[in-house]
Amino acid sequence: MNILVIHGPNLNMLGKRDAKHYGTFTLDDLYAEIADYFVDDEFSFFQSNHEGELIDVIQHAEEENYDALLINPGAYTHTSIAIRDALELIYMPKVEVHLSDIENREDFRKIDYIKDVCHERFMGKKIDSYIEAIQFIKNLVLSK
Ligand code: DQA
Repeated sequence: MNILVIHGPNLNMLGKRDAKHYGTFTLDDLYAEIADYFVDDEFSFFQSNHEGELIDVIQHAEEENYDALLINPGAYTHTSIAIRDALELIYMPKVEVHLSDIENREDFRKIDYIKDVCHERFMGKKIDSYIEAIQFIKNLVLSK
């Protein structure tokens, strides 16, 4: 399976962010853990701090023939109707992931523009949120 993994703003700073919410690993460590866990699958990893760049990659995901898409939009989760609209336009299996538990932090993080345009949301388990999310989309793709 070929899975596109998209990260939004400030996730390139993992390793320097609040360890309580995000752990001490870097984004490259996270990529390595995912690739090591799912050895039979291929991953394309993309990170940007720019909303428009994230939207461009989402818009092209179908024509690039990915089987599924995983996105952690970072703070754009709580602000970006534009990213929501881009996700709504593509029909492949999509999952939203967060390292932290956004339902149990500041109130502004409870606003989530993405969740109902993705098939499922995984959060609060740091790297394990990703492992569970990828397992979920793999099952979804295989069940089609
Ligand atoms: C995050 C949660 C967001 O609220 C925050 O802005 C992030 C990371 C997470 O993975 O827990 O940058 O998406």
